[in-house]
Amino acid sequence: MKNKKIAILGTGFISDFYTSTLHGQRSGDRVVLAYSRSEERGKKFADKWDIPLFTNDLESAVNHPEIDTVIIGLPNNLHLDAVLAAAAAGKNVLCTKPLGRTAAEAKQMLKAVEKAGVFHGYLEDLVYTHKTLKALKSVQNGALGEILWVRSRETHPGPHSDWFWTSELSGGGAIVDMGCHCIEIARNFIGKDIRPVEVMCWADTQVKPIEAEDHGIGLVKYENGAIGQFEVSWNFRGGMDLRDEISGVEGTIRMDHFLRTGFDMFTAVGEGGYVAEKAETDKGWLFPVGDEVGALGYDNMFHDMFESIDSNQKPMEDFYDGYVVNSIIDACYKSAKSKKWEPIDLEIWRGKSSVKKINALADYDEKYYLIKKEDMPNGTTKLILKEKESGKIIQREL
Ligand SMILES: NC(=O)c1ccc[n+]([C@@H]2O[C@H](COP(=O)([O-])OP(=O)(O)OC[C@H]3O[C@@H](n4cnc5c(N)ncnc54)[C@H](O)[C@@H]3O)[C@@H](O)[C@H]2O)c1
Repeated sequence: MKNKKIAILGTGFISDFYTSTLHGQRSGDRVVLAYSRSEERGKKFADKWDIPLFTNDLESAVNHPEIDTVIIGLPNNLHLDAVLAAAAAGKNVLCTKPLGRTAAEAKQMLKAVEKAGVFHGYLEDLVYTHKTLKALKSVQNGALGEILWVRSRETHPGPHSDWFWTSELSGGGAIVDMGCHCIEIARNFIGKDIRPVEVMCWADTQVKPIEAEDHGIGLVKYENGAIGQFEVSWNFRGGMDLRDEISGVEGTIRMDHFLRTGFDMFTAVGEGGYVAEKAETDKGWLFPVGDEVGALGYDNMFHDMFESIDSNQKPMEDFYDGYVVNSIIDACYKSAKSKKWEPIDLEIWRGKSSVKKINALADYDEKYYLIKKEDMPNGTTKLILKEKESGKIIQREL
């Protein structure tokens, strides 16, 4: 194990979360350099986290001889230039989500890191939550059978900085900001080697006075017939609601990651400070989160990234994944405009080709397929069967 010496680019919200994770639990990995546009903010951040170096020059940050790894926590419009600089400097490059504002940007980043031969990790934390990793293991063990439908939701009352609300800088609204999480969660459960083929998406600006969408719902259809459904909103009141549901031929999983995690608290006088990310109040019924770093997957994510660097392997999420997600999002924006199913343009596809539709036909006996078996309130068991030869559907009562 080699402790990482990290330059963090950006000293805002996500860099705070990342650094608290990286410096947590007596870790030996350290952020040794902070880059901020303003020296003052860089120094403040460095003082807060006990970081020895800070600079307001991005080139010198990524090229600093003390550092081996660059973490990009800058607004979306700055990811591309930062990735190009870090790749040229020959450092391990970890970039927050979304990788690009568009697939074209993401593709440029993917090509740059691959050409430079540097390690690249896509910091999609929400596939790394403790619950999600356990659920993924169950799915990989076959506990749910073939996955048919993944519903993933991320909604809150809107982001915390001006640039998110400016489409030119962010690349869009709630879909690019949060749909990226939901889309990648669904891909992980359905199978990253199954090609996403087309999308149907609704997006609208319901409440906020902005150009981009503040609410979006989309369906991502996969080649095997599975569906990923995302629901994202910047108009949801009452905190940050993160939930996932996975539905397979043989079972289902439901996960609440935030807001309703089984930790409710009432205070008449108020908490007097921060309760949880995007909590709207500190008084009355509250939904604190005991371990935000774990609930959001940051700890497992950096563990995977650094272990993968040490063992020279691909992490669970790399820039190729970021590129696929951006390609799906591009198609979503097209569909929201055209109001039609739109194909996903995946110029680079590294998964399986020509996958067959999911076939879950269950034999009842030589003559019949079993459609359904149900214990009835009157004490009988009903069977719905399909005759293989004629295709006729019949029922039997046992
Ligand atoms: N769960 C997650 O993975 C997660 C959560 C939040 C944000 N993010 C991502 O992290 C990135 C940053 O978001 P944030 O919430 O930290 O935003 P933020 O506004 O809190 O911080 C952004 C940082 O970038 C700096 N910055 C802004 N414009 C700049 C410029 N032109 N040049 C140099 N620095 C500039 C700001 O001063 C600040 O330090 C975004 O890509 C966002 O999507 C990821």
